[in-house]
Amino acid sequence: MEDKREKLKSFFYKINDCRRCGLHEDRTRFVFGSGNAAAELMFVGEAPGKNEDLQGLPFVGRAGKILDDLLESISMNRKEVFIANVLKCRPPGNRDPVTDEINTCKEYLFEQINIINPKIICTLGKYSTQLILDTSHGITGLRGKVFHRDGRTILPINHPAAVLYNPSRIEILQNDFLRIKGLLDSGNKTEPSPVDKENDDKEDNKNDDKEQLGLF
Ligand code: URA
Repeated sequence: MEDKREKLKSFFYKINDCRRCGLHEDRTRFVFGSGNAAAELMFVGEAPGKNEDLQGLPFVGRAGKILDDLLESISMNRKEVFIANVLKCRPPGNRDPVTDEINTCKEYLFEQINIINPKIICTLGKYSTQLILDTSHGITGLRGKVFHRDGRTILPINHPAAVLYNPSRIEILQNDFLRIKGLLDSGNKTEPSPVDKENDDKEDNKNDDKEQLGLF
């Protein structure tokens, strides 16, 4: 645990002045991620929004409040988990991440995963799901299904910000959080789900784009 904390801290100091892509020009703070360096459960979101950029912490705005409530619904809190994003700097106006930014930043996330070595990664929304599962499938077809990668369990779920635009989405998220709890309690022994057919892909991506518009 101490070892992971130290490693994560020195990784933070190594990268927090990153200028590898244009996003550093407008950022207030680099948002490394926060939580328990020895967490069994890690959440990966998309990118910092306005509040995150100001505070240097992930998920501290309205979507963060939803994430906190969902954690509380399974008797957990953010000190027990680790929360990070695909991008460490805020895209201007909260626009979607672009491929170059993701490709430039992804090695930071991969190294965080490497250090923390979580048993379960819960990807929040399209961008983190596609990156971690290395797929172009949309979130709609993947959400709630369990995958195994590099000895870890991956559970893609909707981004909490989706609830801000469609409050009825909260029930799906609440059920998916119960799923997370079940995986943690069972030592995450679950069969992987087959990936949806490529044919479902186009429809999923159309739905995803609707959900990603104007997030945060
Ligand atoms: N949305 C994200 O994906 N990440 C954050 O840190 C905040 C909102």
